[in-house]
Amino acid sequence: MLHRPKALFAMRAEHLAMLFPAAAMERLRGLADIDVSLVAERFDDPRLAEVLPRVDVLITGWGCPPLDEHLLAAAPRLRAALHSAGSVKGLVGAACWERGLLVSSAADANAVPVAEYTVGAVLLAGKGVFGLREGYRRRRTFTLGEVQATTGNYGRRVGIVGASRIGRRVIDLLAPHDLELCLYDPYTQVAGVRQAGLEELLSSCDIVSLHAPANDETLHMIDRDRLALMPDGAVLVNTARGSLVDTDALVAELRTGRLSAVLDVTEPEPLPPDSPLFDLPNAFLTPHIAGSQGNELARMGAAVLDELERLIAGYPLAHQVHHDDLDRVA
Ligand SMILES: NC(=O)c1ccc[n+]([C@@H]2O[C@H](COP(=O)([O-])OP(=O)(O)OC[C@H]3O[C@@H](n4cnc5c(N)ncnc54)[C@H](O)[C@@H]3O)[C@@H](O)[C@H]2O)c1
Repeated sequence: MLHRPKALFAMRAEHLAMLFPAAAMERLRGLADIDVSLVAERFDDPRLAEVLPRVDVLITGWGCPPLDEHLLAAAPRLRAALHSAGSVKGLVGAACWERGLLVSSAADANAVPVAEYTVGAVLLAGKGVFGLREGYRRRRTFTLGEVQATTGNYGRRVGIVGASRIGRRVIDLLAPHDLELCLYDPYTQVAGVRQAGLEELLSSCDIVSLHAPANDETLHMIDRDRLALMPDGAVLVNTARGSLVDTDALVAELRTGRLSAVLDVTEPEPLPPDSPLFDLPNAFLTPHIAGSQGNELARMGAAVLDELERLIAGYPLAHQVHHDDLDRVA
């Protein structure tokens, strides 16, 4: 249990008001001793000299500098880092794990908008909306009642790659629809969902949505040979990370018109201005916005306050990040 811990914000200051709107800030002030006007963007900020020796909890966010041995030396009382964003890779250094710092992330809260975006993309793709919209724009007319046999979501086969927080949420949100779901994840299963190998999933699904982490194992997991397995007319949705897909191979497939793609993430990111993906009519690009944007940041802030309450009450954290899991998670 921690009675009124001393807390400090460490993140890009511009996000603070969106993460913690007035009511959330009030709630925070009720829980912790915190100067809400002080946001550490660097730990060598002279304003922190008085604060760091007394700080128990860091409330971190996008733009927070790495938590390394220098910070730990300056903050001997630090017990926990509650991250108001997704991945803590690149934020929490080895020294933190050695000290046994409690680390929690708001990745679950950040999964909500990514899953919403994905479900929207999957259902619109299944309906053929992206291609039909391009066709209407090109022809400037249409014939009512002209039906394409390949359009529609009834019995559409959707493959999910990665039973991640986001992948599982997508599965739950798609469950009420008349779809056939299939999952590939070498480490995690989901009850009631057909599990398949990656090749089988790619060759048997009309829409494939990627939700695995970026790591050595998933680098270009969707390459030329695997794209070739996807049936004609299939759609690849990527809200995970650009490195999962071999961009050149995808461009080559899209150029034939055989496949389409909805890409929130790409490699590289942003794409070079002359990337063919900007002009291909069967590529629907968004600028890495599936995760929390605008008012969605407040959901992550609220998740941090829930964690802070648990910490103060002596309950286990609900979203604790464990060092041993880091290789398999985002
Ligand atoms: N577009 C965005 O704005 C946005 C926002 C948040 C997260 N993401 C990305 O979404 C993806 C999912 O994030 P998350 O937090 O849901 O992940 P997570 O950490 O909850 O889960 C990772 C899952 O991937 C599985 N996995 C590991 N290796 C795999 C492999 N080789 N093949 C298939 N599955 C594998 C693991 O078993 C685990 O189930 C990540 O790539 C993440 O970076 C994107």
